[in-house]
Amino acid sequence: MYKIAVIGGDGTGPEVAREGLKVISAAARKFNFKYETKDFDFSGNRYLKTGKLVDDSDIAELKKYSAIYLGAVGHPDVKPGIIETGVLLKLRFALDQYINLRPVKLYDERFCPLKDKKPEDIDFVVVRENSEGLYKGMGEFKDKGTQDEVAIQISYNTRKGVERCIRYAFEYTRKRNKRKKLTLCGKTNVLTYAWDLWQRTFNEVAKEYSDITTDYAHVDATTMWFVKNPEWFDVIVTDNMFGDIITDLGAMIQGGMGIAAGGNINPNGVSMFEPIGGSAPKYTGKNVINPLAAICAAGMMLEALGEQRGADAIEKAVIKVSREKLKNLAAGKMGYSTEEVGDLVTENL
Ligand code: IPM
Ligand code: MN
Repeated sequence: MYKIAVIGGDGTGPEVAREGLKVISAAARKFNFKYETKDFDFSGNRYLKTGKLVDDSDIAELKKYSAIYLGAVGHPDVKPGIIETGVLLKLRFALDQYINLRPVKLYDERFCPLKDKKPEDIDFVVVRENSEGLYKGMGEFKDKGTQDEVAIQISYNTRKGVERCIRYAFEYTRKRNKRKKLTLCGKTNVLTYAWDLWQRTFNEVAKEYSDITTDYAHVDATTMWFVKNPEWFDVIVTDNMFGDIITDLGAMIQGGMGIAAGGNINPNGVSMFEPIGGSAPKYTGKNVINPLAAICAAGMMLEALGEQRGADAIEKAVIKVSREKLKNLAAGKMGYSTEEVGDLVTENL
């Protein structure tokens, strides 16, 4: 019996999560697994009413779950940064979800904004470090508000944190068993402390994986290759900030935020799965947002729970529905409503 904590969150989050849960329920019937869900309200509305975000007792409660399924966070009436740090980053850090796994896969040529790129050209995974770097929140102001003001933001990288991420990436590349190529994406030419540590650790760990081809690309060049030669990539490992940036570009070349999903993984604890697009306030309640990213996140969650057949079936159904039915992956342009897309995936399971 899996225990799934559901955080609908803000904006269109609850709508897309509902469709993902619909698909999970169909997968459970077909593949004979049992689960129960519990809703957790960590929304912006709750914050506006009560001032509450995610606290330590919430974390203690969530640790009892098999996985967390998240819709979206971000409320237009709450100052940027409060819910992001108080809910999303709090969950990632407190549950030590030190990997952010973001597959970039093109399901149909029609969805790709790049000329002449086909599904076989865009199929890679970004392993983003998810617990350190610039996201650690370290830094300070000096002489704030004066002409001499200095703002310092530190990228904090530990050997242990870097190594566990790199090891995960090597293991993942081996298990994925496609091109068996792992690219380190960094900035060794300028950020000479952080990326020296990353490069040294990468080279050392690589010695244990003679079956994996390794490569290095600067982050700026990586964005160029995503557009020019995305077929070069199999698995990419990078730090928190670079991973955040390059996976938005990754989402665009696979067809946009309507299809991009990710997992915040603690290999020894509770992981959390989410569509990577935001809460899209302007589409809230209109039944027009694309739920496929949330449905793909549900598939990733089943894979992490060990329900590989369910995960594979969901991906197949998503491919079929997006190729054969949807006009477009963007909100309001799919040719179907949010609920109808969820139904189509369910029927095709
Ligand atoms: C993401 C988002 C978050 C991040 C924000 C909402 C804090 O952009 O999941 O990529 O920067 O990690
Ligand atoms: Mn992001």
